[in-house]
Amino acid sequence: MDLVHLALRYLHLLGFAAVFGGWLVSWLSRKFNFNTAMLYGIAVQLATGIVLYGLASADGDANHAKLGVKFLLALLLGVMIAIPVWKKREKVADGHFWATGALIAVTAGVAVFWQ
Ligand code: HEM
Repeated sequence: MDLVHLALRYLHLLGFAAVFGGWLVSWLSRKFNFNTAMLYGIAVQLATGIVLYGLASADGDANHAKLGVKFLLALLLGVMIAIPVWKKREKVADGHFWATGALIAVTAGVAVFWQ
């Protein structure tokens, strides 16, 4: 794996830390709102993930079904996170809050367990 690939994978993991960490802080501080760490995190996930997908395809070892599912989940998360942040919502609905945390965890699970 070359340095560019490793650097992108590293950034991808930092993006995951930002999006999930932002959500955890909101939960544990009982704010139940979405923050810019989550917004930047999901943007980094989408940007680095798409390039990683391109690299894996070029190498001929992309799992298209898995990465397609990840892409759709990340796109959905992007919308679910961006709208409350842009509208500066002080609190998101309970279902929306928990669904977002669960979807982030499911997407990371797809990354790790679907081989
Ligand atoms: C919330 C969104 C996302 C989360 C939480 C997430 C999480 C992760 C995690 C934890 C890994 C590391 C897995 C491992 O090394 O075993 C990973 C790798 C990867 N992700 Fe994502 N991801 C997200 C979005 C995306 C998107 C949108 C794409 C592109 C379709 C993508 C493509 C990839 C690829 C290609 C790898 C493999 C990198 C490598 O082994 O070089 N990810 N992702």
